[in-house]
Amino acid sequence: MSTSLALEGKTAVITGSGNGIGRAIANAMSDAGANVTVSDILEEDGQRTVKEITDRGGRAIFVAADVSQTEQASNLIETTVKTFGGIDILVNNAGVGGTSGRLHEVDPEAFDRVIGVNLRGTFLCTKFAIPHFLAKHDGRIVNIASTYGLIGAPQAAAYCASKGAIINLTRQLAVDYGHDQIRVNAICPGYIDTSLGRRKATLGDVEYAAAVARREKAAAMQPLGRQAQPIEVANVAVFLCSDGASFMTGSIVTVDGGCTTTFNYGEASN
Ligand SMILES: NC(=O)c1ccc[n+]([C@@H]2O[C@H](COP(=O)([O-])OP(=O)(O)OC[C@H]3O[C@@H](n4cnc5c(N)ncnc54)[C@H](O)[C@@H]3O)[C@@H](O)[C@H]2O)c1
Repeated sequence: MSTSLALEGKTAVITGSGNGIGRAIANAMSDAGANVTVSDILEEDGQRTVKEITDRGGRAIFVAADVSQTEQASNLIETTVKTFGGIDILVNNAGVGGTSGRLHEVDPEAFDRVIGVNLRGTFLCTKFAIPHFLAKHDGRIVNIASTYGLIGAPQAAAYCASKGAIINLTRQLAVDYGHDQIRVNAICPGYIDTSLGRRKATLGDVEYAAAVARREKAAAMQPLGRQAQPIEVANVAVFLCSDGASFMTGSIVTVDGGCTTTFNYGEASN
């Protein structure tokens, strides 16, 4: 019996794929043979991902969508189906952090925004994709959650709540749709080297250098001792959507360099 990690003939929608992890997933899905719909609120960034794919001979389109908006999420899925003749894979990757401070200091509107993009966006895109998966009795969904959905983290109430909800939504969807051969899995990334680079424009030099140093120090304390590159998450997303993962559904897969396996023990190793 052979297994295949290829996605030849499949069509994948990747939300938030103008940058970071989503951008890497879109490129990796294309390299595995899939047609890709790149989607983001940032058109220029999304078009860059499309060009990266088409320059290598892949097939990709860009559809602008704020995943928290019902009509835009619906249009994303329907445009994909019209363009490529169907949809096989949905990666709910678009996500925002957005709040700082402890919970009593968080603006209700900021809380709603994080839940709106991370959780409602996942709900909406999934809702509109599932009828197409039901019709073909096949579908693969990967939700990009976070290690912060598995543990508490400082001053990240809305983010932690949204990612924890995505994790259990993943399990719940696996229950409701398993008999329809729709597989739903989640990835929990740890420290991934992504958007901090783009924050250079908004932070001053000193603040930026401090933020980079803080993140590198935190990553250095984890078992693998470093941040990951986005491709290291993308490879796992491709696997979960391939026939190689045919018996996986409801799985919560950490891609975190081991950081949720232990305490941040720092100097006190024994
Ligand atoms: N980078 C990390 O260390 C890390 C760790 C754990 C989980 N994650 C998760 O991985 C996912 C991707 O994160 P990243 O680090 O690549 O972030 P990023 O900021 O580099 O990229 C996210 C992309 O999503 C887009 N986006 C934001 N709001 C959107 C909306 N409403 N609709 C559609 N697109 C929207 C942004 O424009 C951006 O292009 C997120 O869900 C994030 O929570 C990241």
